[in-house]
Amino acid sequence: MAYETILVERHERVGLIRLNRPQALNALNSVLIGELNTVLDAFEADRGIGCMVLTGSEKAFAAGADIKQMQDYSYPETYLDDFITSWERLSRARKPIIAAVAGFALGGGCELAMSCDFILAADTAKFGQPEIKLGVMPGAGGTQRLTRFVGKSKAMEMCLTGRMMDAAEAERVGLVSRVVPAADLVAEALKVAKTIADMSLPVAMQTKESVNRAYETTLAEGIRFERRVFQSQFAFADQKEGMTAFIEKRAPKFQR
Ligand code: HXC
Repeated sequence: MAYETILVERHERVGLIRLNRPQALNALNSVLIGELNTVLDAFEADRGIGCMVLTGSEKAFAAGADIKQMQDYSYPETYLDDFITSWERLSRARKPIIAAVAGFALGGGCELAMSCDFILAADTAKFGQPEIKLGVMPGAGGTQRLTRFVGKSKAMEMCLTGRMMDAAEAERVGLVSRVVPAADLVAEALKVAKTIADMSLPVAMQTKESVNRAYETTLAEGIRFERRVFQSQFAFADQKEGMTAFIEKRAPKFQR
């Protein structure tokens, strides 16, 4: 299917989504978010997909929500249309999804990247929450997710000044998992995604769910959740296969 604002590719068990509004540095308008959600629904329903990658262009992952679309929005419209709620589909994805960020990831672009499971950055990546310069604050999770990623002091400075963080700083403070040369970004993201897609799919999904629990509950509850899920994994054939393959010194063949 052809989309107006994104490009979609399959690389074996990996689904690749490229944001594609080059004339607007991938500014996130309602068409783009709608198309992204359609593809997320399709990849999630497809047993042949084990991991997803979300990326932009060399110049921009996404330079934020579309300012031209937002400019004349009234408060009643934002409320009645439940503006932003459609952005939450990404954070509700059950399958692993990697953000591969080159160039600008600003405002809603930074928030979109942070809604993925982890961020691989090109050495050209620049992150920021510059909304305050437009007379608003982050509205798609920026004040919450950035604070959890990098701590209060750094998040507060970023949100209050709107300054950008380069890739090296983002790696130092734990916003991104790794920095790679820009030319290698998508290939590296696909390689990491293939590694994940080759694991047991239900176990990868449960691992994601359990790590995410760490952000939403107490340590004692999180540990309890983890233990119950871990114990239940002994009901999967993949547990027998994974451990048997180790003992037989061969690669596991997980069910999908
Ligand atoms: C709409 C945008 C845009 C945006 C860039 N463009 N960002 N259009 N919304 N967020 C458009 C420009 O208007 C311009 O179009 C074209 O993309 C190229 O951008 P330039 O500014 O000419 O490029 P450059 O000089 O390289 O500067 C790059 C930039 C700058 C530093 C990234 O574009 C910029 O500051 N953009 C806005 C970043 C921002 O404030 N983001 C937060 C948005 S608010 P024309 O037609 O002039 O060529 C937000 C709220 C989220 O995200 C809350 C949840 C929804």
